[in-house]
Amino acid sequence: MNKQLALFKQHNSKVLGMTKKCVASFVAVLGLASCFAASAKTDINQTKFPDQYKTWAETEEQTEREDMLASYPANIILWAGSSFAKEYHSPRGHQFAVADVTHTLRTGVPPKEGEKGTSASCWTCKTPDAPRLIKEMGFEGYSASNFTDLGTEINSVVYCTDCHVDGSAELALPRPHAQNAMSKTGIPFEKQDASMQGAQVCGQCHVTYYFQPEKSNVVNMPWIFGSDTDNILKYYDTRRFYEWIHPISKTPILKARHPEFEHWSRSKHAEANVTCITCHMPVEENAKGEEFTNHKVDKALPHFDKTCIACHESKEAITAQLDADKHEIEAMAREVEGLLVKAHYEAKAAWDAGANWEQMNSAIMSIRHGQWHWDFAMASHGLYAHNPDEGRMLLSRATSQAKMARAVLAQVLAGLKVDKVEYPDISSKESAHAAVGINEAKLSEAKQMFIKDEVEKHWNPIAVRGYQ
Ligand code: HEC
Ligand code: HEC
Ligand code: HEC
Ligand code: HEC
Repeated sequence: MNKQLALFKQHNSKVLGMTKKCVASFVAVLGLASCFAASAKTDINQTKFPDQYKTWAETEEQTEREDMLASYPANIILWAGSSFAKEYHSPRGHQFAVADVTHTLRTGVPPKEGEKGTSASCWTCKTPDAPRLIKEMGFEGYSASNFTDLGTEINSVVYCTDCHVDGSAELALPRPHAQNAMSKTGIPFEKQDASMQGAQVCGQCHVTYYFQPEKSNVVNMPWIFGSDTDNILKYYDTRRFYEWIHPISKTPILKARHPEFEHWSRSKHAEANVTCITCHMPVEENAKGEEFTNHKVDKALPHFDKTCIACHESKEAITAQLDADKHEIEAMAREVEGLLVKAHYEAKAAWDAGANWEQMNSAIMSIRHGQWHWDFAMASHGLYAHNPDEGRMLLSRATSQAKMARAVLAQVLAGLKVDKVEYPDISSKESAHAAVGINEAKLSEAKQMFIKDEVEKHWNPIAVRGYQ
């Protein structure tokens, strides 16, 4: 064990000690959430701001989520070679942020001695302990650690201090990479009005990012040239960056992650000064008739009569519009997925028949760009509501890029006298997993053992919230 890690372990046991005391003394009075939220200190945020605190805790009611790989098994093929192909769920309430990232097969189990595991960077958007650890360990020290090694340090889900100066209503942006990224794109946090600052606090986490390999996997937002698809692609292409090499087609793949902030920032709503907060955190009244911001960050449409109605007359008309946009975007996405799956396997057939890079380069580049455009659309939760026009633009580009890849591949295959390509069975999650050699049952079993032996015994109970 290196010295730095030994220090962390020492620190961990201190925190754990406090946690136990906390359980004993607070659990009956305040409930678990309040106790763990502030790492066992008396929580001034709760006593000072009871309405905000109570509604924040209520995101625990938002338990529903969708198994996206079961719904869209083609994604397993597109993400083959990466942990995204193992498990991918839609988001749910903020109170589950730590438990869900702990349980997902994507973060795996502790690596064997001497091996590198999943980076601790995966904690960055789940907990205020991440900016704390970044401060304590240095950005690279934190990111170079394994995800599982810092588990005992994580004592809170998304919390007041992720968005506010502690104990105050003043908004804050504690993540250094978010500060930098906002400045890079000309919207430095400290120079924005309250409304843009509100959107920016969400944009610390609801943005796309990548782990910078040359800097120990620190989280970075690829925004030097700008935050739209072309500028991000330019950033990645000029760096010759890729997340992984696709095992079927050999494509150097890019991965988008939940670019909600980016899509919103170019929307008609953003232009009209309607932010994440307007729609997802409406102003309400407490029993005494005092106004406060509802911190139960949840779906937006159910708030229609408190928010949307200021500008839109009919809930029916807006619901119909949202349904139509959703339907159209989903249909476009399914078409792209079908095309890309075929392209990956056609590329494989060409390689298998002896194709060289000179022949394959343009097709592989089209697969890379097509899949990027598709992912930059579909990784964005609520795209159809946030920016349907950009969604359509991205997916129509993805469609033409995937078609272009297939047209080139058809020529290459003809030149190599290949007249039959085998495609995988993507009718279910199970068949798609089998096609790319993922054994979900085995991965789950290893994960369960780790949860039982380590997480349940030594981590804060928020890491098993909703699983017991
Ligand atoms: C995900 C970000 C986020 C988290 C977490 C969060 N807040 Fe807020 N909070 C906001 C935003 C955004 C506003 C609205 C600012 C505005 O529009 O004026 C706000 C407003 C407030 C206000 C001003 C009064 C009001 O109701 O508008 C208080 C007080 C407050 N929050 C306390 C808290 C407390 C206490 C917690 C933790 C239990 C918390 N907040 C957690 C983002 C957050
Ligand atoms: C510290 C990072 C972080 C911040 C800040 C943050 N979120 Fe989240 N948000 C998450 C994570 C992580 C999830 C998914 C949790 C899960 O599924 O376990 C999530 C989930 C959500 C969901 C899905 C809720 C549901 O029940 O379907 C919405 C909506 C949402 N966030 C909106 C916002 C808004 C609006 C803001 C700003 C006020 C915000 N978030 C700030 C990390 C963050
Ligand atoms: C004009 C209102 C509006 C604005 C502005 C807005 N949203 Fe949304 N958002 C919605 C609607 C509508 C949905 C679709 C589901 C629902 O909430 O009914 C949604 C969905 C989401 C989801 C997916 C929820 C899920 O469980 O699938 C997330 C996450 C989210 N929004 C975050 C944000 C963030 C972060 C911002 C700001 C950068 C933002 N939203 C801005 C209205 C809005
Ligand atoms: C402050 C005013 C305002 C509020 C509040 C508002 N919107 Fe809008 N909304 C607009 C404007 C402006 C447009 C663009 C109209 C246009 O270009 O025709 C728009 C357009 C839309 C569209 C059309 C598709 C699109 O995004 O371009 C939908 C759907 C929509 N809003 C849903 C909502 C929902 C749902 C809410 C509440 C959660 C909401 N809006 C709150 C001002 C608002």
